[in-house]
Amino acid sequence: MSPLLFRNARILTLAGPSGPRRGPALRELGIIPHGEVLIADGKIAAVGEKVEASADVEVIDAAGRVLMPGFVDCHTHACWAGDRLDEWEKKLNGVPYLEILKVGGGIHSTVHAVRDATQKQLAAALREHLGQLLRDGTTTVEVKSGYGLNTESELKMLRAIRRAASDWPGTVVPTALLGHAVEGNLDDYARMVTKEMLAEVSREFPDIAVDAFCEKEAWSVEACVRLFEKARKHHPIRVHTDQFNSLGMIPEAIRMHARSVDHLEAATKADLVALAQSQTFGVILPGTGFHTDQRFAKAGFFVDQGGALALATNYNPGSSPTYSMPFAIALAVRFCGLLPAEAIVAATLNPALLLGFTDRGTIEVGKRADLILLRHKDERQLAYEVGGNPVDVVVCGGSVVKQGPS
Ligand code: NIG
Repeated sequence: MSPLLFRNARILTLAGPSGPRRGPALRELGIIPHGEVLIADGKIAAVGEKVEASADVEVIDAAGRVLMPGFVDCHTHACWAGDRLDEWEKKLNGVPYLEILKVGGGIHSTVHAVRDATQKQLAAALREHLGQLLRDGTTTVEVKSGYGLNTESELKMLRAIRRAASDWPGTVVPTALLGHAVEGNLDDYARMVTKEMLAEVSREFPDIAVDAFCEKEAWSVEACVRLFEKARKHHPIRVHTDQFNSLGMIPEAIRMHARSVDHLEAATKADLVALAQSQTFGVILPGTGFHTDQRFAKAGFFVDQGGALALATNYNPGSSPTYSMPFAIALAVRFCGLLPAEAIVAATLNPALLLGFTDRGTIEVGKRADLILLRHKDERQLAYEVGGNPVDVVVCGGSVVKQGPS
């Protein structure tokens, strides 16, 4: 692969101290207004106003457009089968999300479709979704299981995710969402998951993060704590919580050193303050409020308190049918109280660190070359424009995987 040189770019390097960006540091984009980036052997070889390059270099003239790290989407349910269009119509007629879940719809509808699908069919559906993500500038994505609900189907999902990941140019991080919903009685079901399913998943996916959905009609705080106390001996833990109700999961998640708590629409200010003072990331998912009930997490407040914030699409067929990080950014600045620069860092560097990657999320020498070139010359356009795809060029691990508008 010959080296690649971007010229005449407005570069958002995001260079700075290691570790998650908090408070005012979340706004620091490390901008080189007119510069060059050299890529060789899949990594960033040089960054500056002018860099040295060999004669055989392939050149992309950015013509003043914004060059920035690829998006890291750290919370998706992008592996699914079937659709939820009938339920969506019900929702449009006023039936709430938790009501649909209670009567065996919602997540359970997707569970039926996933159980009916083969591993190959699930992998094929996910491949299509990964293609959409990549065209919109996402170069690293987390994908959860959670639509299997029994051991066999959860493993089928995780294997499908692994299979689809193997021929995608970006990076897929699977997560075992073992506590997504309940079949039958919660106590019995949670015991089966905590004893049997966790052991099977651990055997085949030893490093995977374990996740659950703490909510009325889903997993209680007590059931989540039992699962996580066991899981955290070997796995990072993450939790969906405070989406509709604040049940007391956030303090428990902090106590157990969860990697992240995700959703936060219903979180109390006291819980947000405690979370901001901890090492646990807060993840906001504004596509969900947009699609379901117009409630959004108070991310601006969380940032003011010094919280480590990440922003994700929550791409899924029920509560957030969007794969677009630019759209998530546009929503986060309108409804969650973020500034455009804060949303950009929360969509790149911070989620990379949440997922355990220190080799991406900034444009610095030695980092993995996952970059995107926008159509825009001012990065605020990323938050200002709604709809459409602002990403002209995508580079993944040093290879150009998209060139030209889609
Ligand atoms: O994060 N809240 C739980 N899980 C997903 C929704 C999944 C679904 O509705 O299929 C979420 O919003």
